[in-house]
Amino acid sequence: MTDIAAQEKPAPGGRAAKGVFIRTYGCQMNVYDSERMADLLRPLGYRAVAAPEAADLVILNTCHIREKATEKVFSDIGRLKPLKDARAAQGRPMLLAVAGCVAQAEGGEIAARAPAVDMVFGPQAYHRLPEMLARAARERGEILETDFSVEEKFDRLPERSAAGGPTAFLTIQEGCDKFCAFCVVPYTRGSEVSRPAAALIAEAESLARRGVRELTLLGQNVNAWSAPAPAGFGAGIKPRKDGLWGLGQLCRALSRLEGIERLRFTTSHPRDMDDDIIEALGALDKLMPYLHLPVQSGSDRILKAMNRGHTAADYAALIGRVRAARPDIALSGDFIVGFPGETDEDFKETLALIETLGYASAYSFKYSRRPGTPAAGLPKQVPEAVKDERLAALQAAIETQRRAFAEAQTGRVLPVLFEKKGRHSGQLIGRSPYLQSVHATAPESMLGSIIPVRICGATPNALAGELCEGPMTASARAV
Ligand code: SAH
Ligand code: SF4
Ligand code: F3S
Repeated sequence: MTDIAAQEKPAPGGRAAKGVFIRTYGCQMNVYDSERMADLLRPLGYRAVAAPEAADLVILNTCHIREKATEKVFSDIGRLKPLKDARAAQGRPMLLAVAGCVAQAEGGEIAARAPAVDMVFGPQAYHRLPEMLARAARERGEILETDFSVEEKFDRLPERSAAGGPTAFLTIQEGCDKFCAFCVVPYTRGSEVSRPAAALIAEAESLARRGVRELTLLGQNVNAWSAPAPAGFGAGIKPRKDGLWGLGQLCRALSRLEGIERLRFTTSHPRDMDDDIIEALGALDKLMPYLHLPVQSGSDRILKAMNRGHTAADYAALIGRVRAARPDIALSGDFIVGFPGETDEDFKETLALIETLGYASAYSFKYSRRPGTPAAGLPKQVPEAVKDERLAALQAAIETQRRAFAEAQTGRVLPVLFEKKGRHSGQLIGRSPYLQSVHATAPESMLGSIIPVRICGATPNALAGELCEGPMTASARAV
């Protein structure tokens, strides 16, 4: 969970006309959307404030992926209600908006259950915020906006504002057509849509001009991105066999932009990992050696029930091809334990896959039954206690691998992009090519630069490093 208000400085030149507080739950796509909502609201006189108490508008940008995430929204609304009432009594009305995936999935229910909520709008409707605010001001009535049109959304967003540092997210693709049996995303974000290449190149250029050095391309299935080659750009970039550009071609184009030094992308689906992307991972120095490729389970029986469209062997073969192209790749993934019908035997196959492939990090979740998804109705739901045990075992296995990967960096010189000041004075924090946090004593003037850092140790959450004299002795690609 992140609060935009806490990251943004107050408006220059005195008191803000109106305050907005945006709380973000869920994935990076929601983080991107919250930043863009703040961009949209700025010309209307809204400035980010540090607490809901000072806000004329509170936006909860919500996530529906697991039951707990959805529950949080209703408890947050409950906590905000007295605040809203108190402000109304003082003649300072506060508008409460619910945005994001819960709004999309349960819009009607929110409107019925939580009368304190003034506006409900899904991920594809927030570009209409200015209109909605004007209407709310006129009517003070409830507003429900959950229509789908991804293209329209991106067309109508303003230019990116001053970025919050040397790294930025760029949503290139939205939605999902995969319909994994457990997942709500195809219903909350709609079907797969790719933004046009020219619009993405323009947004990346604008971010680079504002000091961004590292771009993370986002999509629910980012590697499903495809679009026609943009006119007048990308000479020498060979299209895919179908004549279109895919993620590999887009990365090649973006890596040519002056100022953009690093590219990352997330989240990928095994079925969309084509040869061009793998080739790009091998060929482009700017494309960082980190791949988040969820597999969910190591059991073919469970993968089939999940409707993943790949086997454990397919996934392992794919990782083999990626490693052949980029041997030092840091592999990350997502796992679900306790999918309906998962036996001890199935779970052992997941542990075996982890053992064989080796992860630098991974996210793992207990299966959460989501209304409206096919898996919610399956027999043999797994008891919570069993899910707890499996999750603990899986996380222990991943932690051992994460530590080994981190410790293997000790003694190496890694290029680190310094992003922010550390907790201790004189300390800066940045990222290694493998997305590990690295802290080192360094002058503030190095913020936003990529600096060679000798790794001297690994703590549970970060690597400790020291600046190196002279030129870089090892690049990101040296193993
Ligand atoms: N599109 C991405 C990410 C989807 S959501 C992908 O396919 O990888 C992020 C992760 O949440 C998923 O990878 C999955 O591991 C987890 N997840 C999704 N639905 C879930 C559910 N019902 N219960 C538990 N975890 C779930
Ligand atoms: Fe959900 Fe599966 Fe789509 Fe990922 S690929 S968003 S897990 S349906
Ligand atoms: Fe959550 Fe929606 Fe992202 S359900 S994980 S915020 S796509």
